[in-house]
Amino acid sequence: MIKFHGPDKLKTAVFISGNGSNFKNLVKFSHSKASPIKINLLISSNSKAKGLIYARQKKIKRKIFKLKNKIKDENKILNQLDKSSIKLICLAGFMVILSQNFIKKFKGQILNIHPSLLPKYKGLNTHKRAIENNEKYSGCTVHLVTSKLDSGKIILQKKVKINKNDKPKTLAKKILKQEHILYPKAIKKIFFNL
Ligand code: GRF
Repeated sequence: MIKFHGPDKLKTAVFISGNGSNFKNLVKFSHSKASPIKINLLISSNSKAKGLIYARQKKIKRKIFKLKNKIKDENKILNQLDKSSIKLICLAGFMVILSQNFIKKFKGQILNIHPSLLPKYKGLNTHKRAIENNEKYSGCTVHLVTSKLDSGKIILQKKVKINKNDKPKTLAKKILKQEHILYPKAIKKIFFNL
């Protein structure tokens, strides 16, 4: 498991593909005294990701890799991670499945946030599927990334009630709000055993 050594914050990269609200939230968290991480690098698989604008404002190094050629781009990403001495990767709405080879190189050092109560609803369209199955609750999960999709060790979860009139959009909004609380909490749990 990840160890937090000395007074220096752990150099962290966040990987996104879209909005980047979790990225923004992690940046805010990283600026707090309680944070064991510092965000040194943003990797985006999408050149139009909103998070890129925020990273520029906050002067965080940012790189775009579309990963159409996965092996080639993953190697370029590994290079960037090495250059920035990254020790932790936080996936946050990153829509690309990383290769086994990549994950092996960062074994036990990649976290992901998923908008369901894993092991339920791995993959996409989680909110729609949870509503269609008449679930009373859904939620979000922070877990370690392994080569099996959405299946690594669970660090923390938060339950969210599904109301009768919830639609995928309204549920997504409620869950996203909880994600912003859960991700920093999970990081603190890993480092400080809270
Ligand atoms: C979140 O719901 C996250 O759990 C999922 O993708 C969404 C990303 O949202 N993997 P954002 O880009 O952080 O706003």
